[in-house]
Amino acid sequence: MALLQIEGVSKHFGQLTVLDRLSFEVEEGSVFGFIGTNGSGKTTTMKIVVGLLKANEGAVYVGGRKVEFGQTPTNRIIGYLPDVPEFYGFMNALEYLRFCGKVCGMNATDIQRKSTELIALVGLEQSAKRRIKGYSRGMKQRLGIAQALIHDPALLICDEPTSALDPQGRSEILAILSRVRERTTVLFSTHILNDVERVCDTIGILHHGNIALGGNLEQLKSTHRRNSIYLRFAPAGSEQGTLEAKLCSLPFVTSVLPEQLEPAATSLGFMVEVGSAQTDGPKLLSEILASGFTLLGYQIAEPSLESLYLEVIA
Ligand SMILES: Nc1ncnc2c1ncn2[C@@H]1O[C@H](COP(=O)(O)OP(=O)(O)OP(=O)(O)O)[C@@H](O)[C@H]1O
Ligand SMILES: [Mg+2]
Repeated sequence: MALLQIEGVSKHFGQLTVLDRLSFEVEEGSVFGFIGTNGSGKTTTMKIVVGLLKANEGAVYVGGRKVEFGQTPTNRIIGYLPDVPEFYGFMNALEYLRFCGKVCGMNATDIQRKSTELIALVGLEQSAKRRIKGYSRGMKQRLGIAQALIHDPALLICDEPTSALDPQGRSEILAILSRVRERTTVLFSTHILNDVERVCDTIGILHHGNIALGGNLEQLKSTHRRNSIYLRFAPAGSEQGTLEAKLCSLPFVTSVLPEQLEPAATSLGFMVEVGSAQTDGPKLLSEILASGFTLLGYQIAEPSLESLYLEVIA
């Protein structure tokens, strides 16, 4: 079931059309990577979902209920981490979570239980009683996720939670999002494709105000599979030229790209482009085997998210 449905949403700022009849859905239980370049409209979309901005046309549904601009009741099941989270720096993390719990109308017992659980989930146990104004960016992002989860939302929306962090900080936030997914559907925006590949099962690439490419990441990769075959041979070294010449001579091979040879390499890799991996693959295999080379690996290459992205954005 779709927990979030965005149906034909448009948003203009004066002459500028940011969202142009944008439609997509986020299925319950998924981790959705909302990808787009700077200024593509990710933050605008998220603000519309949480009722902070009014769409010019279209509708958004969360858990089947329509989102209203302003104090929308749908926010009871949404946790939101904005792109630049603001905290009361004089509070410590526990005080801040208590404050957020009260704003959500939770009772003292639930706030206590939930705060302890969330402080552990985001790994802030050692700093829970330090003032937030002394926190690093990564610590603030962790607290931001904890704050967004205080009322046990069905949907967690994070606006670029990893963008300002170093690789270790990014890994830690991604690990938290992976843990969260057991109980909560996650929608997060980013332009870091590597982060998406690490934790998301579903993606939507926002481009020119709409989803240029979206769906299950594995399915997208397999449907956009190109006719590239990765071959690995033993041994490395002297045979590279002969092998390359042999592969290039085959009529159904359209290009041959040898892998960079490391000094201590014991095998030799080639990326070979054919007309059709399905029909030319077996022919390629039998040619190689007949010519006596030692084949160690044969794999139809999957496109990376980066290559899909560039294909869509180009
Ligand atoms: N309140 C506003 N008034 C006028 N223009 C706005 C407003 N908010 C956003 N925009 C414009 O809308 C476009 C989309 O902005 P948005 O912040 O949604 O993009 P984004 O995808 O989140 O970008 P980033 O990756 O930089 O965070 C930009 O051109 C931005 O300048
Ligand atoms: Mg943004």
